[in-house]
Amino acid sequence: MNKITKAVFPVAGMGSRFLPATKASPKEMMPVVDKPLIQYAVEEAVAAGITDMVFITGRNKRAIEDHFDTAYEVEAELAARGKTELLRAVQEVIPKHVNCIYIRQSEPLGLGHAVLCAQPVVQDEPFAVILADDLIDGEPSIIKQMLDVYQRHRCSVLGVQDVPRSQTAQYGIVSSSNLEQNVEQVHGIVEKPSPETAPSTLAVVGRYILTPRIFHHLKNVQAGAGGEIQLTDGIAALLQEEKLLAYRFNGTRYDCGSKLGYLKATVAYGLKHPELSDEFAAYLSSLK
Ligand code: UTP
Repeated sequence: MNKITKAVFPVAGMGSRFLPATKASPKEMMPVVDKPLIQYAVEEAVAAGITDMVFITGRNKRAIEDHFDTAYEVEAELAARGKTELLRAVQEVIPKHVNCIYIRQSEPLGLGHAVLCAQPVVQDEPFAVILADDLIDGEPSIIKQMLDVYQRHRCSVLGVQDVPRSQTAQYGIVSSSNLEQNVEQVHGIVEKPSPETAPSTLAVVGRYILTPRIFHHLKNVQAGAGGEIQLTDGIAALLQEEKLLAYRFNGTRYDCGSKLGYLKATVAYGLKHPELSDEFAAYLSSLK
């Protein structure tokens, strides 16, 4: 299998937990301090050497395409006013060598269906999947850490983290045995098990390296709860014929699909922002 050059960003979800903020603009464009979630996700992929960004978009997602495109008016205005720092921030949203490819998911039929929409571009190569609403702060970037596991084992790798047992019904949960430090061999995966029936507390979060065989299985997956085609079901079928690993990444995850996780991310990134950190830390301590 070749070097991984493509990352898929499913951004066609409804974002219903953030309504009305997401009524007319995508959840992935919500900023954490001064960058939208999708930009953090793309930066993570770029830091891992990925060059082709495949966005699975839906209605109301035009802002994402515009964000990664040239903004002539804004750039001309900033240049005329001599605002060079801001001009650079706008121009450096994405490096010149990176390609952006947009595929429309006409109906939000689930994460599994969104990933399947990437097949015409990804074709017969292994690829990464990044969910921008899971913002993960780590060095090296989380996808880079997972690509290193992939390079050694040449099989699909799921990003996982331990969650409190009371939360298993929010995640895909794996059963596994330890293979090496931070790497588990997966034996089973179930979507959203109740705390009583969950096989473990090891939860899949929004990072995946997948072999192209996943497309074959996603085509055959039956729609599950809510009429959605679940990525977890496709992965469970893949596991029947290929080795599958889970990687406990080294980093801090913020679930920006939830309001509390989003607020936590804003505080954490505000506290480490070069222009804001001192003043923001002082403000936060004044609240106690
Ligand atoms: P979520 O489960 O977070 O759903 O999707 P959502 O619609 O974005 O948000 P809520 O639950 O309504 O608040 C996980 C990821 O899968 C994408 C979403 O954009 C998100 O990145 N997704 C989901 C799709 O691209 N298409 C779908 O049909 C469903």
